[in-house]
Amino acid sequence: MCGIVGYIGPKQATTLLLEALRRMEYRGYDSAGIAVINGTGLKVRKAAGKLSNLEKQVAGDLPRGTVGIGHTRWATHGAPTTPNAHPHTDQSGRIALIHNGIIENSGSIRKALLKRGHTFTSETDTEVLAHLVGELYQGSLEEAVAAALREVDGAYGIAVICTEEPDVLVAARNGSPLIVGIGESERFVASDASPLLEHTRSVIYLDDGEMVILTRDGYRVRDLEVKHIDKPVNQIDWDLATIERGGYEHFMLKEICEQPESLANTLRGHLLEDEGTARVAGLNLTDDELMSVERIIITACGTSWHSGLIGEYMLEELARVPVEVEYASEFRYRNPVVNDRTLVVGISQSGETADTLAALREARRRGARTIGLVNVVGSTIAREVDGGTYLHAGPEVGVASTKAFTSQVAALALLTLRIGRLRNLSILQGRQFIQALTSLPAQIEQILSRTDELKVLAERFFTGNNALYLGRGVNFPVALEGALKLKEISYIHAEGYPAAEMKHGPIALIDENMPVVFIAPRDAVHSKIVSNIEEVKARGGKVLAICSEHDTEIERLADATFTIPQTLDLLTPMLTVVPLQLLSYYVAVRRGCNVDQPRNLAKSVTVE
Ligand code: M6R
Repeated sequence: MCGIVGYIGPKQATTLLLEALRRMEYRGYDSAGIAVINGTGLKVRKAAGKLSNLEKQVAGDLPRGTVGIGHTRWATHGAPTTPNAHPHTDQSGRIALIHNGIIENSGSIRKALLKRGHTFTSETDTEVLAHLVGELYQGSLEEAVAAALREVDGAYGIAVICTEEPDVLVAARNGSPLIVGIGESERFVASDASPLLEHTRSVIYLDDGEMVILTRDGYRVRDLEVKHIDKPVNQIDWDLATIERGGYEHFMLKEICEQPESLANTLRGHLLEDEGTARVAGLNLTDDELMSVERIIITACGTSWHSGLIGEYMLEELARVPVEVEYASEFRYRNPVVNDRTLVVGISQSGETADTLAALREARRRGARTIGLVNVVGSTIAREVDGGTYLHAGPEVGVASTKAFTSQVAALALLTLRIGRLRNLSILQGRQFIQALTSLPAQIEQILSRTDELKVLAERFFTGNNALYLGRGVNFPVALEGALKLKEISYIHAEGYPAAEMKHGPIALIDENMPVVFIAPRDAVHSKIVSNIEEVKARGGKVLAICSEHDTEIERLADATFTIPQTLDLLTPMLTVVPLQLLSYYVAVRRGCNVDQPRNLAKSVTVE
């Protein structure tokens, strides 16, 4: 979603804000803007399109001032035009405001403001909020913001400045992430930690309903009434080099190639090989509590939902607990059967996905224990759940999720071991599972050493605008994930399907122009999927199979193959997905697409 940043300190704000927006551009990139306060008032600059358009606009005429706010937008209300870009100002032009989220009652507030003589220059809900703050301003920005926010419904992370109070920056959050950075005589506020790292590692994570009032030398946190809130200062322990491209052409490629390490990091310190189990201390659940779990619901969105489906196979097979996997966006609005014997697992790379957060809150309201498998440390989901584990995959910047997926599946494997060993899994099975898990990083390394083969296959197979991905069992979710990766970064229409379902409809699509990617490692359903490949070949389809080494049967049938090393059936997704990530990457690069910032998408979806 949108990225917001604010600065107050001794330095010139414009350069600093532009650098910060560059780091957050992955959050939204359809327009950008800044506002700074200087002796002559408020300087606002905005441009539609990429951040580079804004940079060009201000080059040679950098607005001067040491307090300012900046925004990179992912449109919700109104098209991605310059007038709709943030910051927005109030009627008097004294107040500038940036916003990430949606003000749900902006329509009625706009009508009331129009009646009172306000005029608007954009279609946005944010401009309405800026006008409301301006109307309520009576000499204290802090009080005007608090009063305005008491009138609005919806989600927001906002930062506000006012020419009448050039030494104050006010920010507030409700449903959209906001982090405060505490530097030496300077303060920052941002949607995530990435723009803060080069300035400070000391941060405060704001919670919903909280406001922060920043000055150069101090800060105060309060609620929307008058209550003061004491907040702990946390230290961020990852550094800037970890989020830079490090010689790779794109973040996505870097992140795909980091998987041997990211996966090892997810597993590190959790495996107890002698006992054939996993230690997941962060779950905050005793053995008795885990034994009393009657049902598990996994809830997530997008790629994280796909990893959840793989978790279902693992948990049911090895831990023998009934599992359901639900799209968070659906779960939050139904009337799910949940009680205190239900364990609800939320999976999220960002830890900020609005639907997943709302689903977990709903589950808690209904008495369930909630746990989070989350990558971003200190994110809202991580802080709100009853327990969980961090993925430790490192920052994922590419909008297409890659290394977070393999780490999510690994975290689900840890959960499976932990619950499985209490119930159904023997010590020998547990040890075997651990040995296979610990071999995966090296096996991924082997796959990555053959990326050239995938470059050639990408050229050869994906020449049209459609593709079909078919898998069975635990590799059916991998088919979904392969199709999602392809469509989101290369704009080729791709569908993932259970291979046997194909004959109930999608088979009609098959001809010599339709590439069909089979995910077909040698596993319990191997003979079944071989029959499905035969069915496609019989209709002239073009088959690319991801299969196990030395699978002569599939090699004979398919038009091309890419082989993966042998592992346990349930762990194959962590290997089969890697060539699919690389295939979509090479297809997108060949088509000239913006791999790291695909159109219409955002890294962290903080609106519903
Ligand atoms: O941060 P989350 O894991 O909660 O995000 C969920 C989805 O928005 C995300 O996986 C999305 O589908 C990605 N673009 C997939 O590559």
